Amino acid sequence: MKIVVIGGTGLIGTKLVKKLREQGQEVVAASPASGVNSVTGEGLADALKGASVAVDVTNSPSWEDAAVLKFFETSTRNLLDYEAAEGVGHHIALSVVGTERLLESGFFRAKLVQENLIKASSIPYSIVRATQFFEFVKAIADPSTEGNKVRLPPVLFQPMAADDVASAMARIAMSAPVNATVEIGGPEQFRLDEVIRRDLAARKDPREVISDPHARYYGIKVSERTLVPNDDARLGETHFEDWLNQSTKQAPKTERQRA
Ligand SMILES: NC(=O)c1ccc[n+]([C@@H]2O[C@H](COP(=O)([O-])OP(=O)(O)OC[C@H]3O[C@@H](n4cnc5c(N)ncnc54)[C@H](OP(=O)(O)O)[C@@H]3O)[C@@H](O)[C@H]2O)c1
Repeated sequence: MKIVVIGGTGLIGTKLVKKLREQGQEVVAASPASGVNSVTGEGLADALKGASVAVDVTNSPSWEDAAVLKFFETSTRNLLDYEAAEGVGHHIALSVVGTERLLESGFFRAKLVQENLIKASSIPYSIVRATQFFEFVKAIADPSTEGNKVRLPPVLFQPMAADDVASAMARIAMSAPVNATVEIGGPEQFRLDEVIRRDLAARKDPREVISDPHARYYGIKVSERTLVPNDDARLGETHFEDWLNQSTKQAPKTERQRA
């Protein structure tokens, strides 16, 4: 079975390509670096020729409102058109748990447009909505930082390892399309402020995390269950504390830590 991973050089894409190859699948890792551009359409017809499955794990280089909308809308339309022309039988896309509850942000409005285009197309599909990756946790503090203080709301938060996201995507890529949305999440629920506090402390980042029920997440108003999946979500195996220990053992010092 030929599987094309669009965005095959990204965080999830790289892991997914490796896992699928380990399972003996024929995999094309497609990205602008390999001459495949889902926004311009360059290289798509060749990459998708003879493919049974296409997995979209691209991300927009810019998260500015108009740019991110243009990226996901154009890229998804192109992928679906080229896949239909090549007879691809399963389109899979990675989206985010709670997308419809996060529409104050242009990024999530763009992800919803992506999902709706997929649902409206004639190609059988599986939409996978994941919670925030552990790898993304350290970036959450920055937009909420003022001076040495990070203000975050103590809402429920269930992040997961990128490796577990890739494993779930690989299983779905080797299964029949569900023509529905599947949710995946981490094995434990925390409070958002607590996870960021633990992450910063483990990285010896001196910022103080203040629990503030009125604070926003990436500028978005969130409530208790905005960021967590439904009870039927498939859960990853990796625990945050184990991942954090591992990643802080390996991570080079950040500029902030060096200062
Ligand atoms: N961050 C989170 O916590 C989270 C949670 C749930 C879901 N997601 C979703 O997961 C998806 C993947 O995220 P990620 O962190 O793995 O992304 P990433 O590391 O930023 O990788 C993005 C990939 O897209 C490729 N790409 C960019 N523009 C392209 C274009 N015009 N044509 C083809 N490929 C293009 C990149 O290629 P280059 O290597 O050449 O740049 C790269 O391979 C995103 O859609 C995101 O919404 C993220």
